[in-house]
Amino acid sequence: MSPEDKKRIAAEAAIDYVRPDSVIGVGTGSTVNHFIDLVAEKMGDRLRAAVSSSEASSERLRGHGIDVIDLNDVGKLDIYVDGADESNSRLQLIKGGGGALTREKIVAAASAEFVCIADDSKLVEVLGVFPLPVEVIPMARELVVRELRALGADPRLREGMITDNGNQILDLHGLKITDALDLETRINQITGVVCVGLFAHRPADVLLLGTDNGVVTFTAD
Ligand code: 5RP
Repeated sequence: MSPEDKKRIAAEAAIDYVRPDSVIGVGTGSTVNHFIDLVAEKMGDRLRAAVSSSEASSERLRGHGIDVIDLNDVGKLDIYVDGADESNSRLQLIKGGGGALTREKIVAAASAEFVCIADDSKLVEVLGVFPLPVEVIPMARELVVRELRALGADPRLREGMITDNGNQILDLHGLKITDALDLETRINQITGVVCVGLFAHRPADVLLLGTDNGVVTFTAD
């Protein structure tokens, strides 16, 4: 099965977690694009609305006639569906390959259940082969770079990337993340960091992984 087909079957499996008449949280990326297309096809007229983590996903949702509403206008969301760049077996994630990490973290924090959808290449033993994205306030970039180097990372500016929030992204190479909770806390404490794409304090609750043998479901310990 191709990686794209694995993403699609994982996205399709997430539909079972969506309750009719609910407001759903929707992430960003190619796997989520499958989810948006499928949820619109199978449940579009039975969804109340969506809260989206990026302008790109909002546009796709609206293209299917799904209302996109402001997070400030709703209470806790039942469910957040999003992809990941890496997941370990504790469902701690690296996210932000598409640059939407801050809004993704906000919508995940506002949701009762986080369902992560991915193809099986994303499951790793130790997080960090995929460079860890950090969104930074542009004027603080070099200050943040120095602090990140002191943590043992090799930060590289993502050229040409400005986030939906008007900030820049540093991708951290060379990390072997054995204590994701601690690293997330340390990076969050650096002045000028908006958000780190490490989802350890708020991991996924369910991981739906597309494999050659169908979808395998993992739940957090
Ligand atoms: C975007 C993300 C995506 O969820 C992540 O990059 C995975 O993307 P894809 O589904 O295209 O592999 O975090 O900021």
